Amino acid sequence: MARWREFLPVTDATPFISLNEGSTPLIHSPKLSARVGRGCEVFIKYEGLNPTGSFKDRGMTMALSKAVEAGSQAVICASTGNTSAAAAAYAARAGVACIVLLPAGKIAFGKLAQAFMYGAKVVAIEGNFDDALRLVREIGETEPIAIVNSINPFRLEGQKTASFEIIEVLGDAPDIHVLPVGNAGNISAYWMGYREFHKLGRATKLPKMTGFQAAGSAPIFYGKVVEKPDTIATAIRIGNPASWDMANAAIRDSGGSIDIVTDAEILFAQQWLAANEGIFVEPASAASIAGLFKCLGSAPCATCPFPQIAEGSKIVCTVTGHGLKDPDIAREQCGSVIPAKADKTEILRLIAG
Ligand code: F0G
Repeated sequence: MARWREFLPVTDATPFISLNEGSTPLIHSPKLSARVGRGCEVFIKYEGLNPTGSFKDRGMTMALSKAVEAGSQAVICASTGNTSAAAAAYAARAGVACIVLLPAGKIAFGKLAQAFMYGAKVVAIEGNFDDALRLVREIGETEPIAIVNSINPFRLEGQKTASFEIIEVLGDAPDIHVLPVGNAGNISAYWMGYREFHKLGRATKLPKMTGFQAAGSAPIFYGKVVEKPDTIATAIRIGNPASWDMANAAIRDSGGSIDIVTDAEILFAQQWLAANEGIFVEPASAASIAGLFKCLGSAPCATCPFPQIAEGSKIVCTVTGHGLKDPDIAREQCGSVIPAKADKTEILRLIAG
């Protein structure tokens, strides 16, 4: 992230609270490219390889650096798990207190383990993410605690650097960018980054921003708040996204689209990506791959950019978090072990079967 300093709202007085986040790989996918056809190429931006295993680290380095610069002694966030893991880690690094408000019972275990180990104060509320964020806003109004959710503008500033990296590797912006949408900060941040580099002449074009929500948690797609959001992809189980307007603007201004994928489609895509490309991501992250499959199938949404895709187009799918974040899903989805005696003959017989 340090190499993008000139594009970030920092000065020499800003401390640099960093864990060497960013510079994640942009992995070419031959199998997905073949599925799209017409000489198009698909790349996967693997954000699970950030220090705490998700894209949130890009924003959190900025949020904590600015909070410490402003003299904050404590930070707070609402989270479906990844923001809290990142906040807890960067707060630990900065030596400030961290409080996280989580929807009770709806956080993947890996993320909870991170918040505990990084030493955050973990509060599990009876309510969903939207309730937790409302409470965080209220606490921020009266208490001297910095809010590090994406309503903190420094978060999106940090997250926009993923677009810079993609332009750097591809030599230009892609034609289509596909990503999961929850609280809608990330799609807004990518769009900010793409526009910034386009304006500076570092990219000749802008991608069509193509977002996917989980079918049971799709307020932007349906155009109304979802009171009881529901999905197996707990990271994007959000009914009233904070960056709703910005996301709508990104989708509209880029000529992109917003669509939904079912839990079954998400789980299929998660397993497909792991088993076919060796990239293990958490369910919410697989929404982008599920979305790509939907775009290529028989029922894409009315504004889907894929039917008009030009030959040789470049498509980037962001996968936002590491698969190990949610070990229970993996256990439920796949396999059982094959019990065997410590005996070569028996093992050979079993693996041949
Ligand atoms: N993917 C993952 C793995 C996430 O954790 C999130 C959001 C998203 C996608 C959606 O990104 O909110 O910018 O549209 N997680 C937040 C959290 C809400 O608390 O960790 P978004």
